[in-house]
Amino acid sequence: MVTISDAEFTRFRDFIYETAGITLSASKKALVSGRLSKRLAAHGCESFAAYLDLILGGKVPGEMQVAVDLLTTNETYFFREPKHFELLRKFAAQAAEARRPLRVWSAACSSGEEVYSIAMVLDDVIGAQGWEVMGSDISTRVLKRARTGHYPLERTRHVPADYLRRYCLRGFGDHDGSLLIQRPLRDRVQFCHLNLMESLPKAGSYDLIFLRNVMIYFNGDTKRQVVSRVLSVLKPGGHLLIGHSENLNGINDEVVAVAPSVYRKPGGRP
Ligand SMILES: C[S@@+](CC[C@H](N)C(=O)[O-])C[C@H]1O[C@@H](n2cnc3c(N)ncnc32)[C@H](O)[C@@H]1O
Repeated sequence: MVTISDAEFTRFRDFIYETAGITLSASKKALVSGRLSKRLAAHGCESFAAYLDLILGGKVPGEMQVAVDLLTTNETYFFREPKHFELLRKFAAQAAEARRPLRVWSAACSSGEEVYSIAMVLDDVIGAQGWEVMGSDISTRVLKRARTGHYPLERTRHVPADYLRRYCLRGFGDHDGSLLIQRPLRDRVQFCHLNLMESLPKAGSYDLIFLRNVMIYFNGDTKRQVVSRVLSVLKPGGHLLIGHSENLNGINDEVVAVAPSVYRKPGGRP
């Protein structure tokens, strides 16, 4: 097994910071080495430095993305932090009542559980039309899983029983122990590859943005940049939802806290 030196770890730390804005503390040395060691073996690299040179040299197309995929942490599950989904239900009911379309962006959606949780609520409250959900992430590996809508059953523990019946198919035979999001709902959501450290594609503005449990990996400067970029596509009167363990203290004052981990952009509808 190849060991990673302090100098090599520092180079990887700089690489993932410059590429994804992710700050790795010194305690993450074992994590970097554990997650990347198979890639060294796959390419016959004798050291971590050689592997990084290979990535940066661009000689193996796609390898940089593979390294980024491996260095991101993608923990997620359906209906995580349920208060946000109660709030979503309320916003959806208001939009339906006013016959106003609702556009939602899940800005670091990992393998899609957050996106499908949002879609289930919107379909339930608003109906099949009149809403849009976009999910994006820097990792192509998790986006691939998101597009399939196919998950291990144990990850769906928090999906309400009624939604399991209406929106999910339980696997049997070879697919025993898994669950598939039903096609009509899968067809209603979109996923795209997007790095929050880069300028955003022109895709209009959103009523609601979920930016949850990704800022924990960013330092203050990166948080400031990312939040300001994300807020540039939040409609006046729209809401930004962040993870329960995150806050925007000292990060941004364009938005007003209206509940724990919920911020409103001034303007728009009262
Ligand atoms: C812990 S998951 C959070 C998933 C979901 N939002 C939730 O709360 O359950 C964090 C996600 O952020 C993504 N991520 C990290 N840096 C990113 C960046 N610069 N741009 C876009 N996504 C990023 C990771 O790939 C990962 O899937």
